[in-house]
Amino acid sequence: VADQFIIPKKILYGNHALSQAGAYLKELGSNALIITDQTMISSGNVAKLTQILNEADISFEVFAKINSEPTDEMVFHGIQYYDKMNCDFLVGLGGGSVIDAMKAIGAMKTHPGKLPDYLGKEFKGPLPNLVAIPTTAGTGSEATQYTIILDTKNNVKMLLKGAGLIPSLAVVDPELTISAPPKITAYAGIDALAHAIEAYTSRKAQPLSDQFALSACKRIFSSLKNAFVNGTDMEARSQMALASLEAGIAFNNSSVTIVHGMSRPIGAIFHVPHGLSNAMLLENCLSFAVKGSEKRFADIARVTGVTSEHVTDSQGGEALIYAIRNLCYELDIPSLKSYGIDKYKYFTVLDKMAEDALKSGSPANTLRTPCKKEIIKIYESLWG
Ligand SMILES: [Fe+2]
Repeated sequence: VADQFIIPKKILYGNHALSQAGAYLKELGSNALIITDQTMISSGNVAKLTQILNEADISFEVFAKINSEPTDEMVFHGIQYYDKMNCDFLVGLGGGSVIDAMKAIGAMKTHPGKLPDYLGKEFKGPLPNLVAIPTTAGTGSEATQYTIILDTKNNVKMLLKGAGLIPSLAVVDPELTISAPPKITAYAGIDALAHAIEAYTSRKAQPLSDQFALSACKRIFSSLKNAFVNGTDMEARSQMALASLEAGIAFNNSSVTIVHGMSRPIGAIFHVPHGLSNAMLLENCLSFAVKGSEKRFADIARVTGVTSEHVTDSQGGEALIYAIRNLCYELDIPSLKSYGIDKYKYFTVLDKMAEDALKSGSPANTLRTPCKKEIIKIYESLWG
């Protein structure tokens, strides 16, 4: 069977990418709706963007209401504003939440019905032009055909898909990530690491996605800690911005697996940020997944230098898990308990979480595919 490999139409990346984006933006529309959040306004990133739009003679409106992980309600209001202001394309400036919200707004502009109608299906038609300008290094949403929106009625994070959700233009400018505080840097960085490792160890992995996944892993192991400790380390920020993009390209084509599958229910029910719930799960999920699939995990361990090239696959797999535990420790990743999750409530929703995880389809991409019982066991193991 042939593999499909899809990426954004154009990627503009590197230092000062945003300041050079005017001509590219002009090709995509004349009245932009900027999807963003309040932090982007106060950090000055929105002002940087609007200056570029002004210079390129592009009109714009600002919708700065994505102030948490995106919900169906935010998407609904975004569409109303887009129509009211007669916009003709979308620019998402912010973290993964903002870019995901932009994609869903674009999708529901050109597709009938409601967001949950598209669960398990695909947005088939074209969307308005989408421009993704990430300000964190992690979600890779600038390069993917996915968006995750909270269904507020059913408390489910809906994973929605369609090739049209891939941005027409991704502007990856590491300078925009300087304003991300250490916690966000850590959570987003671990999200990218999860994308890369899951992509490389997915049943749907393919030679092209493998290259991007391994390259991302190398950059993350060499630079995430530096970006966390010293936010103005431009070299580390540049490496992480690239790694996030590469990891996004990788999982866009080979899917995520058990970590993301189990992460979304924790996020939906306990409102844990996406990258953090991945980080909480990473070691335990991968310890499960590595069994019987040591070779793929050992490849990552060797390529990133967390172990010598000459170890056996089983030693390599172990070394990778150990390196991940270490990295999470260095990045101050809290446990469920220290984050303040109510243990009693957690144990009462284990069954729903496991059901929702399986329903998303992601766990089934894991080489060692977990059953419901095994998923529940991993959830339980997070309490030590
Ligand atoms: Fe993710």
